[in-house]
Formats: sequence, C-alpha cells, structure tokens
Amino acid sequence: MRKQIAAANWKMNLTYEQGEKLLQDILAVKIPGQAHQQVIFAVPFPYLIMAKTAVAERTDYSIAAQNCYSKKSGAYTGEVSAEMLYSIGIRYCVIGHSERREYFQESDEMLAEKINLLLVQETTPVFCCGEPLEVRKAAGQNKHVETQLQKSLFHLTAEQVSKLVIAYEPIWAIGTGQTATTEQAQEMHAFLRSVLEKQWGKETAEAVSILYGGSVKASNAAELFACPDVDGGLVGGASLVAQDFVQIIKALK
Ligand code: 13P
Repeated sequence: MRKQIAAANWKMNLTYEQGEKLLQDILAVKIPGQAHQQVIFAVPFPYLIMAKTAVAERTDYSIAAQNCYSKKSGAYTGEVSAEMLYSIGIRYCVIGHSERREYFQESDEMLAEKINLLLVQETTPVFCCGEPLEVRKAAGQNKHVETQLQKSLFHLTAEQVSKLVIAYEPIWAIGTGQTATTEQAQEMHAFLRSVLEKQWGKETAEAVSILYGGSVKASNAAELFACPDVDGGLVGGASLVAQDFVQIIKALK
C-alpha cells in the first residue's frame, strides 16, 4: 500500500512552549502506527530541532519545514536552504503552499528550483497544488492543477517523482470550514494520478501519495481518507488541537 500520511501544517501559529506542549499531548496518546502510515509535523523554522527531538523515538513520526529557498546558498538574508534543513536532520519540506504562492509571489518555476534542491538533499518535497474558487466555479480546476504540475514537476524523472508527496489543497477550502466533498476530492485525486500516469507511467503514478488539504477535521477525516486515491491529509487548523489531530491520525487507512 502507498504511504498514508497525516501531515500537520502549523503555519505561523503557536509559541515555542505551545508547540512543545501540543507535540507532547499528541505523543502521549500511543497510537499504534502501521508500517505504511506516516505522521508529519510541518512546524515553523525556530521549532524544527525541538520538534525533531520530541518525536525522535517514533520512526513513523517526522518533522517538515514549511518552506525553503530556491537558491543553493549565498547572500539571501533571511532565507533558509534545503542543505541547511538536511544538516539538522529534516527530511520533509512543504513546497508551493497556496499561501506562499499568493503572499510571497512564488512562481511555478521557482517551486521547480526548490524541488530540485530538496531532491539533491534527499529531502521529500510535499508539493502543494490547488485551484481558487473562481476557477472551480468555471470548472477549470483540472486544467489549473495540471498546469501547476507541468510547470513545477514535468522536468523530473520517474524516479524523482516517486520520491514526492503531492497535496491537493483547493484554495476555497483552506481555513474556510468548507471542505471538498468526498466526490470532489476523489475525482481530483484520480485526475492528478492520471496526469502522473500519462507523464511517468502507471507504476510511478501508483506509488505517489496524494494528500487532501482544506478544512480537514476530526469529523470528516475518515470519510475523506477512505477515498481510494486520497492517501491522507495536510491539515491546518485542526492540527493545532491535540485531540483533533489524534483523531485525524487514527482516521488513516
Ligand atoms: P485548514 O485545515 O486550516 O483548512 O488548512 C489547510 C492547509 O492549508 C494545510 O496546509
């Protein structure tokens, strides 16, 4: 079975102490993980080492950065490189979240560069894609996400793509409480897999975990994750509440 993943995206929330407590509360619940299941916490940069230390005893729990820069190193004040993340033991990095695309003008081409640098560092990019509401209303969502994949991923080999995690996050569902229906999620995830298959073949397409993100909650995670092409979730708000995220982890296939 493909990896089934519950990924928390804390975004720019919580103080250090609050983050530490949240991890402790989640870890205190001994959820028996299966070999094909993975839990990831994407935490703010200053908390990476604390979080990595906190989950050190659980091989099925990993820590992710929420971003990295598109250049290898150099005079880019305030930025963090893929190599720096690797050097502190981080093996996952969220790339292309819609908030970064929107507020920090990250282009598809820039995201392609970030992915290249992460793959050199043997770090798994969690590549986000998804359409805004007006595109969905005009039924243009498939074309929209296909173009995002084309511009940021199509230069990769099948071997490289099979190392990626993809997160489909419809922008209209992020932080709005309006979750995609299971039909909408399954339809899009199957479409994304068909795009992967067309470009790299069936074996690669079947190997890539595709997560759903956008108002995943304790109450809807199980039905979303039950969809055959939904391999878990990338969770914002509900990942900040220990009991909720525990329920979401337990909802993995
Ligand atoms: P919410 O779960 O708060 O809608 O956020 C989703 C998201 O953007 C995760 O990356």
